[in-house]
Amino acid sequence: MLASIRDKKPHVSRNLGGLGHAFSTEIAQQLLFERGLRTPYVRLWRHGEDIGVRGTAKSNGGVDERRVLAGLADPQYVVSEMRAGATLVFQAMSTYCPEVASFCSDLADDIGCPVAANAFLTPPHAQGAPVHYDMASVFIRQLAGSKTWRLHEPPKQWPIRRSKPGDKPETPLAQEVTLHPGDCLYLPRGYYHEGITGDDGSVHITFSDGVEDHWVDVLHDVLDLVAERTESMRGRLPGRSDALSGQSKGIWQTVREDVSRALEDLSDEMISALILRRLQAREQELARSEVVSLAEILAVESKPGEE
Ligand SMILES: [Fe+2]
Repeated sequence: MLASIRDKKPHVSRNLGGLGHAFSTEIAQQLLFERGLRTPYVRLWRHGEDIGVRGTAKSNGGVDERRVLAGLADPQYVVSEMRAGATLVFQAMSTYCPEVASFCSDLADDIGCPVAANAFLTPPHAQGAPVHYDMASVFIRQLAGSKTWRLHEPPKQWPIRRSKPGDKPETPLAQEVTLHPGDCLYLPRGYYHEGITGDDGSVHITFSDGVEDHWVDVLHDVLDLVAERTESMRGRLPGRSDALSGQSKGIWQTVREDVSRALEDLSDEMISALILRRLQAREQELARSEVVSLAEILAVESKPGEE
């Protein structure tokens, strides 16, 4: 199913159930009040603006270690801003939520590229991010409450540069969809989107496949290789006075001819090796980290409850 729509069309799946063991409002509660997270792992957004996770600096009397670390979330500040409409965001969750990491890992195995997870908790009648598009295709899984998404076609198929938050979509509204608990919206990269809550607030988690390589990345690798072999490519640009006329024009002609010749000379095996290098790097990212015993490294005995 995914293969036929991947990176092409939005798709809504209904009634998939919750992710209870991996993430829930209760787990968010624990993360905020008990885990001591700091930015960028936890953020607060209002209308696309990052408003920080603590108020003005308080004096540190040396007794409260929570005040020592810059960027440490102040749960009381966070909840007061959420009451005023701010969206709480947990980023890069697989680095500190083993259950989410496990879910990401399984999804990565299914779709063949690394998966990142961010969770969004939006109060009623609020909007966290303004309309924007992402470089990653995402699975938006609704866990509690509801959120209405307005989607606009991509300005160009598969953009490779991120637009600024708040940029206006150049394309008409393509679809409006409301997600309820258990629903999942697959959103191809490049689709403009904005999510708005109504009388209910919303908890959703977004799984994204944003660390994939594209052909343009291989082309960059190829050009780096060609530059190693092509003296004219490594030359300094002339002064700005003649831009692409006079001396510049002549040098560019030489560079272009040299590069064309060098590209022609590249064997299929060399291109394959460059592509393979990227695919192997991706496989390494996908591989689960080996768990190593710290006790073994420290040459100490590991006992439950040791001091
Ligand atoms: Fe987004």
